[in-house]
Amino acid sequence: MIRVLKDKHIVLGVTGSIAAFKAAGLASQLTQAGANVDVVMTREAAQFITPLTLESLTHRPVVTDVMALLANSEIGHVALGRGADLLLVAPATAHTIAKLALGLADDAVSATALDTRAPLVIAPAMETGMWEHAATRENVQKLAARGAVVVEPDVGHLASGASGQGRLAELDDIIDVVRATLGRGGDLAGRKIVVTAGGTQEPMDPVRVIANHSSGKMGFALAECARDRGARVTLIAGTTALRTPRGMEFMTAKQACEMQDAVLGSITDADALIMAAAVADFRPARAEEQKIKKGDTDTLTLQLVKNPDILRQVKAWREQTHHAMIVVGFAAETQDLVANAQAKLQAKQLDLIVANPVPQSFGSDKEQAILIERGGPMREMPPLTKEELAEEILGFIAKRLQTPLL
Ligand code: CTP
Repeated sequence: MIRVLKDKHIVLGVTGSIAAFKAAGLASQLTQAGANVDVVMTREAAQFITPLTLESLTHRPVVTDVMALLANSEIGHVALGRGADLLLVAPATAHTIAKLALGLADDAVSATALDTRAPLVIAPAMETGMWEHAATRENVQKLAARGAVVVEPDVGHLASGASGQGRLAELDDIIDVVRATLGRGGDLAGRKIVVTAGGTQEPMDPVRVIANHSSGKMGFALAECARDRGARVTLIAGTTALRTPRGMEFMTAKQACEMQDAVLGSITDADALIMAAAVADFRPARAEEQKIKKGDTDTLTLQLVKNPDILRQVKAWREQTHHAMIVVGFAAETQDLVANAQAKLQAKQLDLIVANPVPQSFGSDKEQAILIERGGPMREMPPLTKEELAEEILGFIAKRLQTPLL
């Protein structure tokens, strides 16, 4: 389940592109995430993918005929469009985009689009020439100016065999945009939240690094959930294999010193900072220019020097500037979990610390966390998914931001 999608009524408009088969993936993912998905299709789309496929995935009737829309008030476009939280047209052909720009309503998708006042997200898919044509450019601009959100097509292999811009955007990217659009006006709207995620890598030489096991999943979940609650998010990612999420500012900072610069540069107008990154405390005193050769010796001694503690730097900066901001830290511990986390909460002047016992904290899908608030209660959470834990942490931030900061 994804909180912002749960019980939302999404109308998915499918039009006649070869990418119409990908609508099955969209319908399925949105349904599994908790949304109620009603599919409307053009007749052309129904030649690429059967309504039965989409009905089976959404467990709801699919509309393909504009006359059926008008005739059947139960599933008619009036009921569909007006009850919708969002209309997603994916894939959107050049032809449908032109119809939407003109306000035509001669098929089930365009008729629904004309009637609804729900936010409109469009994911175009077409040959490059059509996408680049002045008519399409104008139509897309017109729709964007009216408030439609356009998920630009990707560059890549096209059905014609050519390569260029026009491929339907990745489904995860489309869903990101849907989530962000539904989340506008959420309880973090107008707030800026900076999140760090992943591990850091400190180079020894051109081929080797000192790294850690952090996957970045927790920080990414926090950034995505904050975006879904309406926040302006800056995600600063260390090392991670995760996909770059849409709908936020994204920076990479692989080394602790780079991450420190990125954090200090981003928090000047932030309402909250969440340091979920696993920052290396030490780095090799020097990164060798050439690869270290093993030679004849049996041991190698590396000299390490201390990295800056980013949260302590943030504390110093706040003391200097009196910038009011909520700061959340993490503590992954192998022993004395609560005592160590409480000591970090005090030393780094945090508002909340999320204490995780190692090894559960790295790479796993469930979190066994204790949330410790400064001067407040300590909550031992049941095992939660990273998304569920992210929502708890963001709920804390949203509540704190509604009360005046000390
Ligand atoms: N952190 C930081 N800068 C560092 C190290 C850690 O800002 N150089 C942040 C982490 O992102 C986390 C919190 O501080 O939110 C606690 O990190 P942790 O590694 O558990 O604590 P340390 O202070 O490094 O203490 P120790 O390694 O001795 O447990």
